[in-house]
Amino acid sequence: MCFIERTLAGATAPSRSPGSRPTFIAHLPEPQNPPNRRTGPAVTDAPEPPIVHFDDVTKRFEAGTEGVPALQGLDLTIRRGEIFGIIGESGAGKSTLLQLINGLLMPTSGSLTVAGAQVPTLSRRALRALRRDIGVVFQGIHLLSNRTVRKNVALPLQLARRGRRRRPTREEEWAAVDEILDFVGLSHRAGHYPAQLSGGEQQRVGLARALVTRPALLLCDEPTSSLDASTTAGVLRVLAEAREELGTTVVVITHDLQVVKAICDRAALLERGVLRDVFEVDATGYQGLPDYREQVRRELLA
Ligand SMILES: Nc1ncnc2c1ncn2[C@@H]1O[C@H](COP(=O)(O)OP(=O)(O)O)[C@@H](O)[C@H]1O
Ligand SMILES: [Mg+2]
Repeated sequence: MCFIERTLAGATAPSRSPGSRPTFIAHLPEPQNPPNRRTGPAVTDAPEPPIVHFDDVTKRFEAGTEGVPALQGLDLTIRRGEIFGIIGESGAGKSTLLQLINGLLMPTSGSLTVAGAQVPTLSRRALRALRRDIGVVFQGIHLLSNRTVRKNVALPLQLARRGRRRRPTREEEWAAVDEILDFVGLSHRAGHYPAQLSGGEQQRVGLARALVTRPALLLCDEPTSSLDASTTAGVLRVLAEAREELGTTVVVITHDLQVVKAICDRAALLERGVLRDVFEVDATGYQGLPDYREQVRRELLA
């Protein structure tokens, strides 16, 4: 079993609904047992270790920052099964924080643990495995324009094939792709090309691609910032259901406080590289978002 399967794989995930367990989970890494919002956290003897733990982490870039660290003395813990928001103004260090979590950047000092592994001490191979098993969604969606939706979503499975002892068959992979497209509500778009989709649909394809390998952790950098209110709700629904039904821990960067209010359990406020606050959020749910007309009325008539 490769590194990441040892560290990120966990207990059996709950199914979408009783009796309809996704077919693809048989051969892919199993996610952690999520705390279910309706039933509360699973009862265990020992508290689960956090999935992400920053301990006095500073990240300083050599060029372009006039000696000011992008992140300074960061202490932060993200629990398994949380939807965790990162908020702050442009340049606050939000994207840097996310790139540290998936090992694209290394701390200048301090200690960072992800899924039980000390990220700065990992070999290149283990780091690659870590990155493969963390789903990432960016603001710019980066779908391959000459591939259909189905083939775009299949890509991570094809990349993950290397190095696996028990390789899924092609049939199992396509079943996984179709299952996750159904999950994000885009089965009817499987044969379309990205240019034929709306922005919201493209972002949901991006989410399907990030989720198809069943990562324990999903990192989203401004996933809704180019979307309007109704398509934002569709993306938030997928994030909330990924946690509920697939057991994914979700970290979402956003400057949109409505996103935080809709789906986050907690949110960290960064200010010029310093963690100012961590807020407990009483999420209202993505269904509670005002529709576009209502938003226009609120903004323009207030
Ligand atoms: N690769 C880089 N090289 C130099 N400076 C960088 C780099 N990436 C980010 N920075 C700097 O670090 C600070 C935080 O950036 P970033 O994490 O992208 O902020 P945010 O995502 O909150 O807008 C900014 O001052 C930015 O200019
Ligand atoms: Mg950013």
